[in-house]
Amino acid sequence: MRLVVLNGPNLNLLGQREPEVYGRSTLAEIEAAVRERAAALGATLEWVQSNHEGALVDAVQGLKGRADGAIVNAAALTHTSLALRDAFLAVQVPFVEVHLSNVFAREPARRHSLLADLAAGFVCGFGALGYTLALEGLVERLRHA
Ligand code: DQA
Repeated sequence: MRLVVLNGPNLNLLGQREPEVYGRSTLAEIEAAVRERAAALGATLEWVQSNHEGALVDAVQGLKGRADGAIVNAAALTHTSLALRDAFLAVQVPFVEVHLSNVFAREPARRHSLLADLAAGFVCGFGALGYTLALEGLVERLRHA
């Protein structure tokens, strides 16, 4: 099973960025934990982080034929990017949306996702653990697809 994890703007700053909201784990630490669990589940993992919307659109387009599923934290682009939504509509690759924080308990602008209704599942509010929970859910879903 080939999986890709996509991370959006500012997630490269995890660990130092608003730790009271996003926790103290760095993105590299989250990646290591997800890679370990993915290996145990027999999945290969590609890890992407970009601060650029176009690069993420390219990465979503690149999922087609190369990935069985994806885990996506589009960060602020979740709430704004019709281009990312269109890319997911185009490739039709199943994905789980993840957010470290509980976006529904935050400012109104964060309570709406342009991706959520396209997602196979949605995980938020569990901090770094959310990525592993998303992985478990995605693998389970793909195995029974
Ligand atoms: C986030 C929530 C977004 O609203 C925010 O812009 C982020 C991180 C999260 O993981 O909680 O950058 O996606």
